[in-house]
Amino acid sequence: MAAHIRTIIAESTLQKRIAEMALEIDEYYLQQNWYQKTQEPVVVIGVLTGAVLFMADLVKKLSIRVELDFIRVSTYPGPTTIGKTPKIITPPTSKLYDSHVLLVDDILDSGKTLQIIQDSLVWPSPESMQTAVLLRKQGKAPSNVTADFVGFDIPDDFVVGYGLDYDGKYRTMPYVAVWSDDEFATSQSNFGWG
Ligand code: IMP
Ligand code: MG
Repeated sequence: MAAHIRTIIAESTLQKRIAEMALEIDEYYLQQNWYQKTQEPVVVIGVLTGAVLFMADLVKKLSIRVELDFIRVSTYPGPTTIGKTPKIITPPTSKLYDSHVLLVDDILDSGKTLQIIQDSLVWPSPESMQTAVLLRKQGKAPSNVTADFVGFDIPDDFVVGYGLDYDGKYRTMPYVAVWSDDEFATSQSNFGWG
């Protein structure tokens, strides 16, 4: 089996868009009455392990006050999510009651991961919850599972790099690429940024 990877989002393009997202997130919180009054830190919760690279670059570019926390959700082994249900393995350590949460994940695909996290954090409930994802496979998640801040909309291909892995591999590449092999059919679009 020969695996192929094809870059669709170059490192410089990723970093430029993440800087823009940080401005969008700053602007959102700076407009909130509670933030203007209290400057209470936003609890940024990264979904391990995929969100780690994106989260690290994003929080460095934010100017609002933040605290960091993590949640571990089981991931899907292999390139398909069909019939698999993610589970929360490690919940965040912060007391989220009364706090303002920004959930950060690498990708919004079927929406099962975000749905399970949003459902599990309802009690004791945070005061507010916003969601930022670097990538979104458009039209795959049900309409009630949405992200407030989205980096890039991408086609429904299996992608790796910048936090996303295939079987533990490719996670630390600084760019995003489509992964395919001779047996796994992918769309052959010429889609890409930079
Ligand atoms: P969802 O639950 O289907 O929305 O997918 C969310 C999680 O599945 C992400 O946080 C990733 O860990 C993983 N995932 C979904 N699509 C891909 C992909 O194309 N490549 C690598 N991991 C993916
Ligand atoms: Mg993940």
